[in-house]
Order: sequence, then C-alpha cells, then structure tokens
Amino acid sequence: MFDLIVKGGTLPDGRVADIGIRGDRIAAVEALPDGVEAGAVIEAAGDLVSPPFVDPHFHMDATLSYGQPRINASGTLLEGIALWGELREQASVEAMVERALAYCDWAVSEGLLAIRSHVDTTPDHLNTVTALLEVREKVRDYIDLQLVAFPQDGLYRAPNGRENLIRALDRGVDVVGGIPHFERTMEEGSRSVRDLATLAAERGLPIDLHCDETDDPLSRHVETLTHEVRRLGLQGRAAGSHLTSMHSMDNYYVSKLLPLVAEAGLAAIPNPLINIVLQGRHDTFPKRRGLTRVKEMQAHGITVGWGQDCVRDPWYSLGTADMLDVAFMGLHVAQMTHPDEMRRCFDMVTVQNARILGLRDYGLAPGCTASLVVLDAGDPVEAIRLRPARLAVVSKGRIVARSPRGDAGLTLPGRPKAIRRRHPTG
Ligand code: FE2
Repeated sequence: MFDLIVKGGTLPDGRVADIGIRGDRIAAVEALPDGVEAGAVIEAAGDLVSPPFVDPHFHMDATLSYGQPRINASGTLLEGIALWGELREQASVEAMVERALAYCDWAVSEGLLAIRSHVDTTPDHLNTVTALLEVREKVRDYIDLQLVAFPQDGLYRAPNGRENLIRALDRGVDVVGGIPHFERTMEEGSRSVRDLATLAAERGLPIDLHCDETDDPLSRHVETLTHEVRRLGLQGRAAGSHLTSMHSMDNYYVSKLLPLVAEAGLAAIPNPLINIVLQGRHDTFPKRRGLTRVKEMQAHGITVGWGQDCVRDPWYSLGTADMLDVAFMGLHVAQMTHPDEMRRCFDMVTVQNARILGLRDYGLAPGCTASLVVLDAGDPVEAIRLRPARLAVVSKGRIVARSPRGDAGLTLPGRPKAIRRRHPTG
C-alpha cells in the first residue's frame, strides 16, 4: 500500500520504473505488481521522471520588480546595482514578500523545489532579510529555500556592511556571501574573502561568494578563496558564483588555478542567462561571452552547477523560473553540444546543484525525500531541447502542480491530429 505511485516513468539514467511513495519518502523504485494499492496514481509511461530542479543562485528580494523604479537603460551590472539601491529603500517588506511568493509559485509549477537565494544585507533596516526569512518559513512545506547573507554594496565599501551581514547571520540566514571584486581595492577584496571565510568557519556555515563577476582578467579573488577554503577546512561547503573573469584570464594562469580550485573542493556556479547579457558590455568587437570555463573545470573534477540568478529584476528583463531555460542557454554559451555534455547540463540543474546546496536525501531512490517532476519528454536531452510541460510536480509526497501536454492540435485534412515535437534520443 502506497500513498502515491508514479507509474512507468523513465528515469534520467534511462531505467524504467514505478516509484512508490509513503508519506514524504520514496519507499520503492522498481516494477510494482499490477493492482498494488495506492491513494493516487500518476501515469508516467513514456515520460521523463526526474528529481526536482534545484537553483543554486538567485536573488529573490529583487525578483519580479522589473521597471521599478525604472528600467536599466545601459543594461550593465553597475546600473542594475544602482537601481536596486533605490528600490530596496522604496519597497515595503509586504511588497517583497508578495513578489517572492509569486516567484515561488512559478518555481513550483516548473518543478523547481530548492533554491539558494542571496539576500542583500546592505541597508541598516534589513527589510530584505525580514521579508525573505518570512518567505522561507511560508514555503517550507514545498520549497527548500536557502538564504545567503549578501553585502551587495561591499563588505567594507558600504557603511555598516560587515555589521549588517553579521546581524543577518544572527537572525538565521543560512550561508555567508560576499562580493570581493566590488570592494574598493584588490587588497580589500582579498581581505573580505579571508574575513568571510573565517566567519563561515567560526559559525559552521557554508560560504558562497559572488566572485570575480567582471571581465577584468586580473580579478583573481577565486585564488584567495581556494586558499582560505583549504586553510579553514571548508571543502564541500564552499562555492564561487559567476567566476566570469576566468573567461578572460591568461591560459597559463588558468592552468595553475584550476587544480587549486579542484584541490580546495570549491564548487562553481555560472549563471549563463545573466552572464551572457551582462559581460562584454565594455567590449566593441569581438565581444567576450564572459561565461566561466565550465567544461574545463569539469575536466578537473570540479563540481559546476548552472544558476538562474535573476528573473524580471533590475539586471534581467526576462526569465521564467525554468531551470531548463538556464541549462539551454548554458549549453549554447559553453558549447556543450555532445550528447554526454547535454546530459551533463541536465545533471547540473538537478543532481549537481543539489550537491552544491548540501541537500540531504535528494534523488530517486528508496529513503529519499519524495520530491520529483514528471516531464513531457522522453529523456534529459529532449527535456532541454523542448523545455516541455511539467505534467506533475510532487513535493515531499504531495502533488503540488499539474499541467497538460504541450502538443498542438491540428485540423488539416489528412494530417496528424497533433504536432508531435517529441523524438526521444534515448
Ligand atoms: Fe547574483
């Protein structure tokens, strides 16, 4: 007897299995006999059944605010930061909570059930922190929301930057954040990395820095971060977000750097939707893509996960909460077009991101949390190609979203009744 059975789906590794769920746990992943009792059944024969999508990098305090107080005319990171500086003073806690909850609804509908969101800790009022702590509590039953204390205007560059970050951690924010390339000098940037890593070690918290999000090849704070992660024993709970300067670095230096990142157990979080529109803005032609070196890091055994970063905010006018959009863009910009690489892109927005967040009991195996998504696709590559309907989303044992199939009906005489976009590659 199960509470829910997901019947006959294809798992990301190609196995076909029934998934039996009891309470909030997966109890069986096997061919269940016909007629076994279940409170509910999701028919998934021919459909891809995946563990839920995970986003390791987002800004939920700013999401769905595009155009407030006005649009980003230059399209640059720096104008975005300036606009956000105005908005965070104008927006009420209630408005931020409302926007964040609307985004969480989108996320659930796309099968995105775990999110790491940076929260700006710059202003003394910490309204952003107040709002997001409330949201974390409100969505707890269906989304795992991890919050990062993020000193957007600099740990040392902003008045009370360090004090306010510590106040946010004291209030229960989960992860230590930072922005070393935005501090006034290289030296202060390095010092901020040492300071933040020490805070993480003292408090037993993960660390995830916006690191070297610039086209300046001499922005090398990631080197300091690897050193501190090793020195303080933060391996496996440390991440560098963006790392875009690595795109422009000298190859000889990168040949020294990547083994250091691997040795430190530092994970990397590129954000392809944002990096492709924000980087290279000061270039004429050729214009740099600005994405960090994804395949090269993976070849060194470094954990790399695609992040979303922004949806409809001062930095990015588009976005859908669909991690398959993120994988799709990442696949193109990083030129990961081999079938193995495309499958890896799907793995990055699921398994690899779950590893970066340190999610416990994630996956499709007996004993894991009963969270999954049923996609109108035959396999992971087709899922990235089509970014198809999420036929069903299950979070912690409960069905939280359903969608119809996406095939278009036709009425042309002598032609098929529906346009079948699906051609599984498996
Ligand atoms: Fe970010």
